[in-house]
Amino acid sequence: MPILPLGIPTDLDKYFYNREKDIITIKSFLNTLNYGVANQMLVTGYRGVGKSFLLKKLLAELPDNILTAYIDMSKIFGIQKGKITEELIMNSLLEAMNESLREDMDDLTKSYDIVKDLIRKLQPSNTKRLGPQNSTNFGRQKKFDFKEAGTAMGIAIPDIKDNYEKLSKFVMEFPQRVVELSNGEISGFVIVIDEFQLIGELDSPEAFFWLFRSYTQEQDNVSYIFTGSTSASSDIVDKINGIKGAFGGRMTQYTVDPFTREESEGYLKEKVSELKFTESGLERFYKCTRGYPAYINSFCNTMSGDVEYDDELVIQTFYEKIEQVAIMWTAVWATLSGKEKDIITTLVENGPLSWSDLLAGVDFSNKTLAKYVNIIKNKGILSHSGKKYMIEDHMLLAWLGYKKERDGFYPP
Ligand SMILES: Nc1ncnc2c1ncn2[C@@H]1O[C@H](COP(=O)(O)OP(=O)(O)O)[C@@H](O)[C@H]1O
Ligand SMILES: [Mg+2]
Repeated sequence: MPILPLGIPTDLDKYFYNREKDIITIKSFLNTLNYGVANQMLVTGYRGVGKSFLLKKLLAELPDNILTAYIDMSKIFGIQKGKITEELIMNSLLEAMNESLREDMDDLTKSYDIVKDLIRKLQPSNTKRLGPQNSTNFGRQKKFDFKEAGTAMGIAIPDIKDNYEKLSKFVMEFPQRVVELSNGEISGFVIVIDEFQLIGELDSPEAFFWLFRSYTQEQDNVSYIFTGSTSASSDIVDKINGIKGAFGGRMTQYTVDPFTREESEGYLKEKVSELKFTESGLERFYKCTRGYPAYINSFCNTMSGDVEYDDELVIQTFYEKIEQVAIMWTAVWATLSGKEKDIITTLVENGPLSWSDLLAGVDFSNKTLAKYVNIIKNKGILSHSGKKYMIEDHMLLAWLGYKKERDGFYPP
């Protein structure tokens, strides 16, 4: 049985396949940092298509004069058990940028120490120990005036309620300062914010995106890459880069696609040459996985090198092992709220539905439905086309259908 990674492997090179065009394209957008031009990017694509792996590989390939930082919002969410704040994101960003400095820049140890000290003072877990005096000090800090900045740009900016101005100012100015501090040694800072759609669960995602916009506006050597499993037409994409969104279309949008039929075949040959397929078996395998590396890997891990897979055996194995093939969704399912699950199962049960039919199928109000539909749209689970709402992912559909048929109910 092959053992392919179900997450991002530590040994990036051993498992990474192709993506040459994607890497060249994204690199070319980042390369302008060398000339003091910072592009901001938005990378979308379905869950399991390979965004995170691609970006991690890309960061690893960037030359030494470009520093990189990577944060995964879903990890922050996981640690916080679902309740996330702007401060936490800022802290994670700072830690990631700082880590990058520590790894790549021996002679910037001084700046590293300063940052370390700051993180220690700012961390929420330490505020208790430091006493209320600390938070009072924060309160006295002059607030960064988003409203003012917005007026200058001719756009209305929503209020930020939280008292995290000092921290955010420091974090947002930090990468550009590092470049300036390096005396030409460092040309740029690339910062990846993965599963960024989860920012949508802050009280004011707009304000948070505006924060980035207002700083990046004045920084010539810092490129942010926001990436997440959300469709390019989701509400959260609109908030960050729509006409009325913070970046107002100035971000370069890039979509990561699944492997093509040929790439899928090439991948199997290169990474799991022990598996044998007939031509029709291969065709069926591609239909089952649709070229999503996540499914290719989890499916391959259930297969054996001792038999040859034809069309029928692929189908049989797929249904026998669907729990394992669709493993990605078990983890996601566990993070969904009851209402999100209700909407999804209603759509699994009935197929694509119009708004009014969907509303009739769930027992909550129009307003509540609107709220949760938006949330699962942001998560790239629900899509909306031709006035119908439907489940985006065929594997999620197959898995839930199977669970219902086998157990008589959907997974709790
Ligand atoms: N180019 C690739 N080569 C090999 N495996 C890949 C590639 N891209 C993704 N994978 C694998 O597919 C799975 C999903 O990839 P991931 O980057 O986590 O997807 P996403 O971030 O889009 O949800 C992971 O197990 C990863 O190892
Ligand atoms: Mg990912």
